Amino acid sequence: MLYSLALISLSLASAALARPKSYAVWAADSAIARSQGNGLDANGKALVSYEHGEFQWGLRQLFELTGNRTYYDYVVKGVDNIVFDNGTVHGSYTYQETQKAKYKIAADIFRNQLNAHPRTSQGQFWHKLKYPNQGWLDGVYMAEIFYAQYTNIFEPGNTTAWADITSQFQLMYENTVQNATAPNNTGLMYHGYDYSHKQAWASADRGHSPEVWDRAMGWYTMALVDVLEIIPSTNPGHSTILNILQTLAPRIRDAADPVTGAWWLVVTQPGRTKNYFESSGTAMFVYALLRAVRLGYLPDADGTIVTAAKKAYQYITANWVVASADGTMNWLNTVIVGSLDTTGDFNYYVSQAVNLNDLKGLAAFVLASLEYERLVN
Ligand SMILES: *[C@@H]1O[C@H](CO)[C@@H](O)[C@H](O)[C@H]1NC(C)=O
Ligand SMILES: *[C@@H]1O[C@H](CO)[C@@H](O)[C@H](O)[C@H]1NC(C)=O
Ligand SMILES: *[C@@H]1O[C@H](CO)[C@@H](O)[C@H](O)[C@H]1NC(C)=O
Ligand SMILES: *[C@@H]1O[C@H](CO)[C@@H](O)[C@H](O)[C@H]1NC(C)=O
Ligand SMILES: *[C@@H]1O[C@H](CO)[C@@H](O)[C@H](O)[C@H]1NC(C)=O
Repeated sequence: MLYSLALISLSLASAALARPKSYAVWAADSAIARSQGNGLDANGKALVSYEHGEFQWGLRQLFELTGNRTYYDYVVKGVDNIVFDNGTVHGSYTYQETQKAKYKIAADIFRNQLNAHPRTSQGQFWHKLKYPNQGWLDGVYMAEIFYAQYTNIFEPGNTTAWADITSQFQLMYENTVQNATAPNNTGLMYHGYDYSHKQAWASADRGHSPEVWDRAMGWYTMALVDVLEIIPSTNPGHSTILNILQTLAPRIRDAADPVTGAWWLVVTQPGRTKNYFESSGTAMFVYALLRAVRLGYLPDADGTIVTAAKKAYQYITANWVVASADGTMNWLNTVIVGSLDTTGDFNYYVSQAVNLNDLKGLAAFVLASLEYERLVN
């Protein structure tokens, strides 16, 4: 009797222990269990999506860290869902005859699309064809990491490409950074700008949008850190991008809420009614800041950047990670969307719904956890 009771409590204990010790593993396994980030949409149709790429970047690091092929296979399967055996890629009009080296062919197709993509007269890629002359911060993550990776592997001597990549970061910074006279200046960057000044939201001076949105800033900051690993340190663009990161990082640290350590959805309006701490932007900042310090891109002599990131990470795990009965974890409080297709004002951002297990935030949490666990273990 006593023996079987002991067995029962032992098996209960091990059921409770089934949850992985690592949040990075737990978050990744939970997303995989829900078939998230695999190159397919909710209806099983092929989908080329930056949040799938964001998640797969986390899986690649988990594979490299653990050697567990489950993660590697999931990434390959995800890519195969959008890169077909017949030599086409989903969403492209180009048809290639050969099946050889299909990943290179697919990369060439995406790369050639950049050559044809329209730009402002300063040279910034338009965010989308339907947003003419507009640069949005999130677009830098979508295009420039791929552009840099492609250049590094296939055209490392293409100095035009490296200068172009650098200029995408720089133009975005110059056209959107808050200046010192801006109300509620954070020194961070507005969500986007309209170089043609045609949008109702465009400011009179530089055409920027009205607010600093946490996730747009998060994408841009992750892109700064990730591209520094790709662009050769001897290339002049490296120091240009490094300077932007070193300017922004202390401003990001200072914009965190002093009590919780998290970041507001609308960074420029802390504490205003209906504003809230948003999980995707917060996780993106934790990832970018910890990684930048670890890789030596950010001097943090007084330790305040790492301290801020750790504090935010603890808030994240205490408030936005919830165990569910099936052993997976749920991820809370990621806003579904932020767009500049309407007003781009405070009321717009705070009116957008938050999503359960939104991959843009959950993938950022995988990335943040990888960095946090490297730091503390
Ligand atoms: C690899 O990861 C998968 C998914 O997390 C897990 O089910 C499996 O047990 C892991 N394998 C090893 C050898 O750790
Ligand atoms: C290539 O394969 C995909 C996926 O099966 C299919 O949707 C597409 O129509 C095919 N394209 C051509 C040109 O055969
Ligand atoms: C180098 O990059 C530029 C800018 O993207 C592109 O127009 C050009 O075709 C590339 N050159 C080569 C040799 O691929
Ligand atoms: C600074 O920003 C404010 C608000 O966008 C604008 O009115 C002002 O002209 C800007 N000043 C400079 C020097 O860009
Ligand atoms: C400045 O911040 C306060 C506090 O969040 C907010 O109520 C106010 O609307 C903000 N002002 C502007 C111009 O953004």
